[in-house]
Amino acid sequence: MEEIRAAALAALAGADSDAVLDEWRVTYLGRKSDLTNVLRSISSLPDEDRKTVGASANQLRGALEEAFDEKTQALRAGPGAIADALDVTLPGRRRSGGALHPTTQTIREITNAFGAMGFQIAEGPEVEWEKYNFDALNIPADHPARDQWDTFWLQEPGSEERSDMLLRTHTSPMQARIMEKTDPPVRVVIPGRCFRYEATDATHEWHFFQIEGLAVDKGITFADMKGTLFEFARRLFGPDRKVRFRVDFFPFVEPGAEMAIDCFKCNGKGCSLCKGTGWIEIMGAGMVHPSVLRNVGYDPEVYSGFAFGMGVERIAMLRHGIDDVRQFAAGDLRFLSQF
Ligand code: FA5
Repeated sequence: MEEIRAAALAALAGADSDAVLDEWRVTYLGRKSDLTNVLRSISSLPDEDRKTVGASANQLRGALEEAFDEKTQALRAGPGAIADALDVTLPGRRRSGGALHPTTQTIREITNAFGAMGFQIAEGPEVEWEKYNFDALNIPADHPARDQWDTFWLQEPGSEERSDMLLRTHTSPMQARIMEKTDPPVRVVIPGRCFRYEATDATHEWHFFQIEGLAVDKGITFADMKGTLFEFARRLFGPDRKVRFRVDFFPFVEPGAEMAIDCFKCNGKGCSLCKGTGWIEIMGAGMVHPSVLRNVGYDPEVYSGFAFGMGVERIAMLRHGIDDVRQFAAGDLRFLSQF
């Protein structure tokens, strides 16, 4: 047994890998090892030897097992072991953190720009009454302008008829909702999702975000609107922007305008972004129609105001060079993780 001990400990001292350790365990502690043979033979020994031989064989087994455990731990903890387990030259693994959706980022930038000019932020329902989406905005049921907004109408359960509820086609119904509840002066921007029953293509989604703006007070003029929207364009698109207003028609404003900025990519020279025109349209706007003011109980002889509405995804597309609006709701991480 002393020979076994000496040979085993000498072999163990030289072990330098898990494979060698395994082999050592089979040789010195395995079923066919000398020590196991000694332990097996104990029952055939004369009574007087059994106890002493048994005790020292078991002691030796315990000692070898302990030495084996120590060696295993030493090997695993040693500097060589760490070098085996870790390749410090491998590139690190990036943790993927969450980020704000590009639409959300754009909404925040736009509302911050107006916030800095004293506008408050409000939100309203996506499921809307016909009354706010159309009638209050000077678009009665028989008005041809309703065709401008292809509408998802809601039905009562069990009914085939459309009800007087719909998915809002623009954020303009919030103009009436806010004026109904607030006395002038009003200065507010309203971001929100809108829905249109129309075929989708690279610039049209059936759901998208708009930001509405409304300012009403005594003595507000078209010049105030121009100044405000010009300042907004500078904040969002750069300090050198020019703005252009051209006449446009929306039943709830008079006069109505379409606002464009000179192209921030080519500075108005003409490029692929502005399709060679030098101008980029960014929103509809105008002076709040007297009928709209009257509908919410404001006296148009005393108060005047301006309103505007812009498409959030369209602005994000311009700023980031995105060529398809359908990317925004596609949920593709390869697109989203770029922002
Ligand atoms: C309106 O919806 C008016 N309510 C805007 C307005 C408000 C005018 C206040 C005057 C005063 P329009 O239908 O043009 O206007 O839509 C406004 C913007 O929403 C568009 O310029 C465009 O940027 C965006 N938009 C409209 N339809 C879609 C669509 N299908 N997909 C993505 N964006 C759209």
